[in-house]
Amino acid sequence: MVTCSRDKNSDLFFAALGGLGQFGVITRARIRLEPAPKRVRWVRLAYSDIAMFTKDQEFLISNQASEAGFNYVEGQVQLNRSFIEGPKSTPFFSTTDLSRLAGLALRTDSAAIYYIEGAMYYNEDATISVDQKMEALLDQLNFEPGFVFAKDATYVQFLDRVREEESALRSAGVWEVPHPWLNLFIPRSRILDFDAGVFKGLLRDANPAGIILMYPMNKDRWDDRMTAMTPTADEDVFYAVSLLWSALSADDVEQLERANKSVLDLCAKTGMECKQYLPHHTSQEGWQQHFGAKWGKVAELKAKYDPQTILSRGHKIFPSRAAADGVATA
Ligand SMILES: *[C@@H]1O[C@H](CO)[C@@H](O)[C@H](O)[C@H]1NC(C)=O
Ligand SMILES: *[C@@H]1O[C@H](CO)[C@@H](O)[C@H](O)[C@H]1NC(C)=O
Repeated sequence: MVTCSRDKNSDLFFAALGGLGQFGVITRARIRLEPAPKRVRWVRLAYSDIAMFTKDQEFLISNQASEAGFNYVEGQVQLNRSFIEGPKSTPFFSTTDLSRLAGLALRTDSAAIYYIEGAMYYNEDATISVDQKMEALLDQLNFEPGFVFAKDATYVQFLDRVREEESALRSAGVWEVPHPWLNLFIPRSRILDFDAGVFKGLLRDANPAGIILMYPMNKDRWDDRMTAMTPTADEDVFYAVSLLWSALSADDVEQLERANKSVLDLCAKTGMECKQYLPHHTSQEGWQQHFGAKWGKVAELKAKYDPQTILSRGHKIFPSRAAADGVATA
């Protein structure tokens, strides 16, 4: 049993962050709490122009916006085809909302519609009302005029929002299915290329079931001592793009596997450094490439904290010693 923190055994502490189970089993964690807000004003803002969408997202996560801005910023991409073939309503969007959005896609001839998802936390006793604060913020943004969709929720309802999505998927019978997900981190300087190549290229006429997340993050919130990898480009911001597919049939699995691969191939071919988050590589070479300059450090920490390579062998990051010695393993 080892206790580690930012200051104590800090190499193990950081190694375990994004460590893919390689360095130990966490049996206890202490997490600092803070008072929770009571309520949340929760909005989605629609864009047809990727450049405006990313510009506003980056503004919203910058220091400039932080005081008067959202407490939470994410984003989604909805492919054109899904307006026709996808669900006619979702826990967030009503049927009317979705048909307005389909109209927007058609009018702007967009292969995709982009949503900024923002949440503003508040307490009912706030001196400046959340409505005023929201209005002032929305004034600074460039979403399609009139395309604001707002909800008001308790803080707990907001935190638990995925459950509602889950119930909707369960009742449609599409929850207990394979999820061939691909999560990527992409340098900010290449995000428009990625959009052009993937959403307006590879997936242009596709309509896989599932959702696509897309939002920027500030690199300085990620400590380089962590095992989790971010793009190595020397830029303050990078994007997370998550293709969260559901495969509804065996054919779908194959098709998504191919889509998966063609996205990764496109990244390689065009020199976009798309780092997988929650990565999957089938060989040690793949992992060495993934960790890049950090590989030596990762191997060193592995030798220190799991010298017998007992933990999480399934990832195939380190060959099992026992197997190499010809010892039968359970
Ligand atoms: C979006 O879908 C509609 C309906 O299928 C189609 O007419 C339109 O050409 C598509 N737009 C783009 C940019 O692909
Ligand atoms: C899609 O790619 C990710 C990342 O390589 C992988 O984890 C997942 O298993 C792939 N899914 C399929 C069905 O290929």
